[in-house]
Amino acid sequence: MKIIFYILIFALITFFVIPCNANDDDDACARLKNDFKRAKDPNKFSSKYSDVKECFESFPYDKKLAEDTIETLKKTLQGFYVFLSEAREEPKQGFSFEAIDIIKELDSLLLNNYKTDYQFMTDLTNLIERLRDAHLGFSSNCYSHFIYNQQLALYSVINNDKQIIKIFDDKLDSSTIDCEVTQIDGRSPIEVIKEFGDTLRISRDSGVRFNIALSGLKFDDSGKLLRLSDLPSFGLRNQLPEKSSIEYSIKCANDTSKKFTREWNILSPFYNAFNTSKDYWNTFCISNENITATKPIIYKETPKIYNLSESEMIHNSLSTKFFILNDNKTGVVVVQNVGLSDDDTIDQMFEIVNGFDLLENRGVKKLVFDFNWNLGGSIELGFFIVYLLFPEFRPSFDNDMVVTKLSREAFFQATSNSIYDHLVGMSSTPLSSNSSSSENIIRWAAETAYKVISITSIFDIFSYRNPITNEHFHTVEEFIGNNTYIRGGIPTQFTSKFVNRYSERIDKMIELLSGKFFKKYKWKNEDMIILTNGICGSTCSTITQRMSEMYNVSTVAVGGYTDTPLSFASFPGGEVANFDDLMSELNSTGLLQNEALSDLIPPLFRNRVTFTLTIKEGYDVFSQGVLEFEYNPAKYRVYYDESSARDPSILWLKVAKELLT
Ligand SMILES: *[C@@H]1O[C@H](CO)[C@@H](O)[C@H](O)[C@H]1NC(C)=O
Ligand SMILES: *[C@@H]1O[C@H](CO)[C@@H](O)[C@H](O)[C@H]1NC(C)=O
Ligand SMILES: *[C@@H]1O[C@H](CO)[C@@H](O)[C@H](O)[C@H]1NC(C)=O
Ligand SMILES: *[C@@H]1O[C@H](CO)[C@@H](O)[C@H](O)[C@H]1NC(C)=O
Ligand SMILES: *[C@@H]1O[C@H](CO)[C@@H](O)[C@H](O)[C@H]1NC(C)=O
Ligand SMILES: *[C@@H]1O[C@H](CO)[C@@H](O)[C@H](O)[C@H]1NC(C)=O
Ligand SMILES: *[C@@H]1O[C@H](CO)[C@@H](O)[C@H](O)[C@H]1NC(C)=O
Ligand SMILES: *[C@@H]1O[C@H](CO)[C@@H](O)[C@H](O)[C@H]1NC(C)=O
Ligand SMILES: *[C@@H]1O[C@H](CO)[C@@H](O)[C@H](O)[C@H]1NC(C)=O
Repeated sequence: MKIIFYILIFALITFFVIPCNANDDDDACARLKNDFKRAKDPNKFSSKYSDVKECFESFPYDKKLAEDTIETLKKTLQGFYVFLSEAREEPKQGFSFEAIDIIKELDSLLLNNYKTDYQFMTDLTNLIERLRDAHLGFSSNCYSHFIYNQQLALYSVINNDKQIIKIFDDKLDSSTIDCEVTQIDGRSPIEVIKEFGDTLRISRDSGVRFNIALSGLKFDDSGKLLRLSDLPSFGLRNQLPEKSSIEYSIKCANDTSKKFTREWNILSPFYNAFNTSKDYWNTFCISNENITATKPIIYKETPKIYNLSESEMIHNSLSTKFFILNDNKTGVVVVQNVGLSDDDTIDQMFEIVNGFDLLENRGVKKLVFDFNWNLGGSIELGFFIVYLLFPEFRPSFDNDMVVTKLSREAFFQATSNSIYDHLVGMSSTPLSSNSSSSENIIRWAAETAYKVISITSIFDIFSYRNPITNEHFHTVEEFIGNNTYIRGGIPTQFTSKFVNRYSERIDKMIELLSGKFFKKYKWKNEDMIILTNGICGSTCSTITQRMSEMYNVSTVAVGGYTDTPLSFASFPGGEVANFDDLMSELNSTGLLQNEALSDLIPPLFRNRVTFTLTIKEGYDVFSQGVLEFEYNPAKYRVYYDESSARDPSILWLKVAKELLT
């Protein structure tokens, strides 16, 4: 299992349809459907805010269903959530979040007299969000099938030493672009955006939450630079906003001021999956294995492509883009996605080696690493990048997991089943018919090696190594050890600290991939700098913290609040597990069949929800603090201006000139 984290909120979730046919003017969900059917141009269509709200609110609160949902959440968190105790601790200086006893809060939700399922589910989602752990998320599929769009994007610049908000882009009225926003709903725009950002779980640092609320640019797979559209922001949301519109007061360059109200444009890719509130409920809200899948509606839009004036792209791959700046001596490596399928991972390793080779061949002396908007992914690929630059490096952070009655049993069961796990059949990777090509042989060997290092079960203790002795664990007792730490005032038992047994030995793979003995690039730590907006999470956080902490690579953060330090990385966590995967893993170890534990085993959800949780934690190498709760501000700070917000190469050049001498 890899460390994979995404919040692809607009990803096309597979969805299901049951046949049913009805129509009712009193049925708001039916109106949503019928309005869409009547629309002449679906690209210009918007559902009515009041209909969406009424449709959501048409499902009455079901106390039993609510109790069952809370029960599953509580049992899962109590069994496996690694930060359950630590979440009760006050934040360290620099962070901003509340200390929460989540189990108590979950219980107290049930004391409320809810009228609608929507109200309950919304409170529940927001409660989980308050832990500000990006790996821990809960949402009801019932209320996340619409996209709410202001059709304008905001950004922040420093103007005469004052931080202001401006309009980045406006699809409906281009004359507002680059006007200053002086008020939002009659209030200070910075305050309003901060307030919105602070409802998100992306980071424990409020400055990073502020950054995600604003607009950003990201390269697509083909290397085009586009406005970010797959993360929630102030102007683009996946949860029903509180009001149907937002009022903006703006001041433009010619000193004219105006005020306008912008309604939310509301669209769903899923109108064809329901006709009435009854089938809406059955399709989106309740688990039902009898429902069959149909295709979502795709809305075609030609996105604006942004241009880079100060750089030339020399290599493009899915995970990493390589550039040379116009100073002819600085290379830029944009690492924005390490969340790839296993099949792509080996390919990407080759691509990354190619990219660095090209930079070296072009005589590049300095490197800017741009890690903006990187939500993590394959830990192997992350380690690979660091290892390539610092081959003497021991890439791992020590990890542990929480020991509870349930997880203890999971370790025993998974380990007793594990004997076969490590007998990886070479035949599972057929040797290519092109075996005459040496690159193909290397590729085959790398793929086979990669299969061997992949962990099959998180709970199989033979997958782990003791970082002190460097030996793998021999017994479950040895792995569990006897380690009770006080976290959030609560004595809590954790496993012995461990590192992955195989996947961190990727030095051998690098030798394979380079096709000869591993060659070392000439760049030193002082030739490199890491640039992020703090939205560098999970694996990205591991890469950057490692480079900065162990190798003294400088860090520079962009954006945030002026004069307040900003984290260069967020949510290092350890490893995330999706509830469904966790349950099927426990099922295959035989744990779910264990009657003696039936009181502790979380029942499956009866409603359709998405639930993920952090299952491992990582430790800081020097302080030995839990990484997730250690505040790491960037050493340097830069801010966007009107041009660099739209052209990152201007920012890269500025960073290279001022900070890489
Ligand atoms: C909605 O109605 C159409 C016919 O009007 C029917 O073909 C379709 O199967 C119905 N969809 C659902 C989800 O009931
Ligand atoms: C000033 O600029 C705004 C926005 O660009 C525009 O709508 C308005 O017509 C301009 N007014 C004058 C007097 O030029
Ligand atoms: C699914 O269909 C089977 C057979 O028709 C039925 O017995 C079962 O109750 C259905 N399940 C649900 C959740 O509707
Ligand atoms: C990028 O350059 C192209 C071609 O010069 C131009 O059409 C396009 O408008 C530019 N994009 C932006 C966002 O300025
Ligand atoms: C970089 O190289 C190009 C082509 O070799 C040359 O035209 C340009 O002037 C150089 N720029 C700098 C800043 O040296
Ligand atoms: C074998 O390699 C050649 C050249 O590298 C390539 O064109 C061909 O598609 C490959 N065939 C197979 C079966 O992979
Ligand atoms: C665990 O450690 C505690 C104190 O460190 C000790 O009292 C206890 O006996 C130990 N338990 C086992 C099973 O070793
Ligand atoms: C990093 O910096 C610290 C203190 O500035 C120093 O002790 C350490 O040796 C440096 N490490 C490397 C790898 O340069
Ligand atoms: C556990 O696995 C069995 C056999 O594969 C399956 O029938 C059952 O539905 C699974 N139970 C859960 C809770 O996933």
